[in-house]
Amino acid sequence: MTSLYEEISPDPPDNVPVRRVTMTVNGEKRAADVEPRLLLAHLLRYGFMLTGTHTGCDTSNCGACTVLFDGKAIKSCTMLAVQADGHDVETVEGLATASELHPIQEGFKHEHGLQCGFCTPGMMLAAKALLDENDDPTEDEVRWAMSGNLCRCTGYQNIVKSVLWAAEKLRAEGRS
Ligand code: FES
Ligand code: FES
Repeated sequence: MTSLYEEISPDPPDNVPVRRVTMTVNGEKRAADVEPRLLLAHLLRYGFMLTGTHTGCDTSNCGACTVLFDGKAIKSCTMLAVQADGHDVETVEGLATASELHPIQEGFKHEHGLQCGFCTPGMMLAAKALLDENDDPTEDEVRWAMSGNLCRCTGYQNIVKSVLWAAEKLRAEGRS
């Protein structure tokens, strides 16, 4: 059991209320005692140490904090951890297996879809949400699906190519 408040503040005042939440994260049951005001992004990063979920703005602009929530792409800086109680969350750490990258990760590598990498986890989860629903998207559909995710480095072209590469690989592997 993770007591998030203890990890962030070893000497909390007595009157801070906490709620116990449980959720499935990357296929594993996780639980934590959290303040009701805690953001899901912060629980993932500081409570569960899943630091692939980045926070770039905390105002729902950049998309760096994108995760899958019951299979849908959401910005985890706009959701409270208590709202995720009982739900299913997937972060970028859940994409690869111990021995193999996910085709989306391979696509970003193959098509040079990243430079600094800050936006990349959110981009990959937005791509996964798209490809889980549409195994053969057009370039326009990819651009639309990724339009909530900002990148300050790549100019987007290679990100779009990465997602299209991944879609093709998933179809070829019969995984779509
Ligand atoms: S940190 Fe969530 S959208 Fe920017
Ligand atoms: S690769 Fe640097 S922000 Fe996207």
